Amino acid sequence: MSTLNWGILGAGNISSQFVHDLLLNNSRNGKIMHIVRSVGSSSQEKGQKFVDSTGITIENNGGVTPSVQSYKEFFTNKSIDVVYIGTPHPFHRKQAIEALENGKHVLCEKPVTVTGESARELIALAKKKNLFFMEAVWTRFFPSIDLIKKYVFQEKVLGDTKRLWVDFGYDAGLDTLPATSRVRDPKLAGGALLDIGVYNITYARILLDTGVGKNASEFDVKSFQTIDENDGVDYVSSMLFKYKSGKHAILSCTNYSSDDGPFLRLEGTKGKLEIWASNPACPKKFKITFKDGTEPIEYEDTTGYNGFIYEANAVAEDIAQGRIENSTMPWDETLLVMDIMDKVRKDSGLQYPMGIE
Ligand SMILES: NC(=O)c1ccc[n+]([C@@H]2O[C@H](COP(=O)([O-])OP(=O)(O)OC[C@H]3O[C@@H](n4cnc5c(N)ncnc54)[C@H](OP(=O)(O)O)[C@@H]3O)[C@@H](O)[C@H]2O)c1
Repeated sequence: MSTLNWGILGAGNISSQFVHDLLLNNSRNGKIMHIVRSVGSSSQEKGQKFVDSTGITIENNGGVTPSVQSYKEFFTNKSIDVVYIGTPHPFHRKQAIEALENGKHVLCEKPVTVTGESARELIALAKKKNLFFMEAVWTRFFPSIDLIKKYVFQEKVLGDTKRLWVDFGYDAGLDTLPATSRVRDPKLAGGALLDIGVYNITYARILLDTGVGKNASEFDVKSFQTIDENDGVDYVSSMLFKYKSGKHAILSCTNYSSDDGPFLRLEGTKGKLEIWASNPACPKKFKITFKDGTEPIEYEDTTGYNGFIYEANAVAEDIAQGRIENSTMPWDETLLVMDIMDKVRKDSGLQYPMGIE
């Protein structure tokens, strides 16, 4: 069994969901042992609370009790192979630089940075240091996505696909959130596009194009954002993509409302694909229905994982094989998506105070 030693940076929401999957994998004797060596946090107390609340024990963590460290100590901790960055977007650039400069591989939460320019800088540094670096677009690694791609592209069960709708609604409870929350605060690059719109784009990239990264097909982008008068960030962003093949993607995201129905519909000449999830970032349940009444195809992920284990295993395999770039989420795909989001913000006049973070 191979082992990967993780350092978890930021004792917050997404880090705890990520760690949940590592521990569940270990307790099920997964083929890779993911060990949490350290939790880097702004406070010892908060970091320890994270260790306790996520339930990290010697039994489910490869016999290791993780350290809780300040950010400074964390980056020089020699037992860490790979850093998982789970802090708000504007901190990713500096933290990824520090991790890479200290010889650590990096898996960085999405959006990898606030701007495409910063993402380019990180990729160049990872190449220079010969270290693994990936934006944590976990959606691409779900088994459901492999299955869907098989049905849509290899078996062509939908016939020719013509339109894709992706509606990422996440009711963030804006009225109850403090203005300093990362969802609301422009200083934390708040708003919907960078936080959740990145998934609308990801689904369009997965379902309308077999190419990824430098093999992507060309497409045009039109977009709108409504900038909130008080907070100065977007709580509604919408985009339209048109591929040369004629396929359209209709993409919209909002922090005002959620919905229980399918958040995604891919329409083909023979039928349609719909995907459901309480969080549209994780495609756990889908259904393909056919115009001619053929028995629908249905799938549900009932493994109990949040879904982070799929990308974590991919990272482990790459690192074990000495690869510094992942083929499912390659660097050029990150840049393609970052450049779209830069353009969408430029076209609507949304500027964050940190500029290039
Ligand atoms: N993959 C997904 O589906 C998904 C879902 C949600 C979020 N995310 C991404 O994950 C990242 C973190 O999101 P989150 O919801 O986990 O955020 P969060 O809980 O608000 O913050 C995560 C941690 O970052 C540090 N932090 C927060 N605000 C900070 C500030 N103002 N200054 C310095 N450090 C701060 C804190 O760590 P310490 O105090 O311990 O240092 C905090 O616990 C974002 O980039 C987001 O886009 C991804």
